[in-house]
Amino acid sequence: MKTLIVYYSLEGNTQWAAEQIAERLGADTLRLVPKAAYPDKGFKKFLFGGKSAVMKEVPELEPYEADVTKYERIVLATPVWAGTLAPPLRTFLRREDLSGRRFALVASSMGGSPGKTFAHLKALLGTAEDVPVLSLKDPKSHPSQANEDALAAFCDKLT
Ligand SMILES: Cc1cc2nc3c(=O)[nH]c(=O)nc-3n(C[C@H](O)[C@H](O)[C@H](O)COP(=O)(O)O)c2cc1C
Repeated sequence: MKTLIVYYSLEGNTQWAAEQIAERLGADTLRLVPKAAYPDKGFKKFLFGGKSAVMKEVPELEPYEADVTKYERIVLATPVWAGTLAPPLRTFLRREDLSGRRFALVASSMGGSPGKTFAHLKALLGTAEDVPVLSLKDPKSHPSQANEDALAAFCDKLT
């Protein structure tokens, strides 16, 4: 199934996951880049990103070339921000008509449960279907066997 992995990543963990999945599935990736970058250091990082997530902001994105209509399956990958998705995913979902596609969801967190993040993504996708999900804990900065096992099981499910 032709698959596109759409992701946003501030500090590289979600990007690492997206690239691993792409390699294992032979899928393409689309990195979402907000026009105004979020701060990636210190106190401002949590303040600005957290507020943006809680306020459900829809930040402008840099143009991308991927033709989303070419893909039968879309994997959405996001860091967990204040218990929900990172806002660049919100912009993507508002912009693209994804009706008729298959979906899978990936969330990278520091340790918090991604349950709400997946629920919010499914609500935005308008699907009540059972969607494959993958939850990782900082897989690039804190590699672990648990992350490896979860990643392998997720990719097996999508193969
Ligand atoms: C603005 C902001 C809010 C965050 N909120 C949460 C949270 O609610 N729960 C959690 O477990 N981790 C939270 N984190 C940590 C990230 O979800 C986690 O480190 C993730 O792996 C980062 O992915 P990235 O490297 O792709 O940006 C937050 C990080 C940022 C920058």
